[in-house]
Amino acid sequence: MAEAQSYTLKVRRFKPEDGRGPYWQEFEVDLDPTLSVLDGLLQAKDREDGSLSVRCSCRAAICGSCGVKINGQSTLACLTQIGEAHEHVNRRDRDGDAKPITVEPMGNMPVVKDLVTDMESTHWEKIRRVTPWLLDDGDPPERERIVPPESMVDITQTIACIQCGACVSACLSMEVDPDFIGPAALAKAYRFVGDPRDVETRERLYDLAQDPHGIYDCTHCFACVDACPKGVAPMDQIMRLRRRAGDDEGIRDRNNGHNHELAFVKIIEKKGTLDESLLLQESYAPGIKGKLIPKPAAIKGLVGSLPTAVRGLRTGKMRSLSKLIPGVHPKLPGDAQGHVKRIHEHAEEHGDELNLYITGEEDVEPEPDEEKLSPPEASEGPKEPE
Ligand code: SF4
Ligand code: SF4
Ligand code: FES
Repeated sequence: MAEAQSYTLKVRRFKPEDGRGPYWQEFEVDLDPTLSVLDGLLQAKDREDGSLSVRCSCRAAICGSCGVKINGQSTLACLTQIGEAHEHVNRRDRDGDAKPITVEPMGNMPVVKDLVTDMESTHWEKIRRVTPWLLDDGDPPERERIVPPESMVDITQTIACIQCGACVSACLSMEVDPDFIGPAALAKAYRFVGDPRDVETRERLYDLAQDPHGIYDCTHCFACVDACPKGVAPMDQIMRLRRRAGDDEGIRDRNNGHNHELAFVKIIEKKGTLDESLLLQESYAPGIKGKLIPKPAAIKGLVGSLPTAVRGLRTGKMRSLSKLIPGVHPKLPGDAQGHVKRIHEHAEEHGDELNLYITGEEDVEPEPDEEKLSPPEASEGPKEPE
């Protein structure tokens, strides 16, 4: 073991019984740098203030209890070495006074006390929302349902989830829309959509696609992928749900999410940059570049999106009105747009599904067994309403 060193933990505290708001408190702890931030918190609780509340159990990144934000990043306190957390916060300013390691409760959740959050409404309710159990055909087999091991590989990544809520804490869409089903629950949904024993694949996908807070509410920000301590990559699972719903099942959602996604890809393919002036039109009237289709649904969708466009202008996301006029989107320097187009082409040609256990195409011929790893055929479900 290395020698113990001193660290300062700056903890965001909240004691409802005090009747005052949240406040920061600093604790000095002495620990081997390879021990965890959780060890530091427990030392502070043991030696300085027994009322400091933190939830933990296994201390080995298994139980999922100790989710917090360390230096602003949602993670597990037991998985974060205190020495690394200290290095991270002081990496830019080595000559000044050492900055403390900040520890806060997880985001997007009500705080019960200090670092303990209420995960019921923001996590568990949403997990229940996706029917987190297998829906079989109701006739139990004599012994067991036999599933080829290869077909389970696809969902192994989602099975690794320990329900810690770090992804929920980090999710930017959830900050804007607390009703968003969220990364953890949608990853859980894929666990059953991808399971060949489940007989309600289409129903599940239809439900998640039509829900305005469902799979099309994710903005691809990658925050959940960064936060997840178990490599579940919830955003990737959401993208798989989208592909299964939009491409495989042909579900056209009322949120226009699938068309919006196709519009993004189409514009990037053609221009090598995202021309926002075309995005709304291509999303609602796909295929008619430069002209609007006078279909009632397209017009309704476009009009309904006007407040978003105005907000984009106001906040500077769309920097000038001129950029809304087709054809005047600024060119990227040099051959940058050509590069992007080539990346798109490459992705189209080599777009294998990747997860922790499927390595995809890496300049090697796939093993014969890998060919069996494509998602199983979806079961027959209800037809989409006309
Ligand atoms: S990628 Fe999607 S689900 Fe993940 S944090 Fe961002 S918005 Fe949330
Ligand atoms: S997906 Fe990852 S971050 Fe989210 S709850 Fe599961 S283990 Fe935690
Ligand atoms: S204490 Fe169990 S995951 Fe951290």
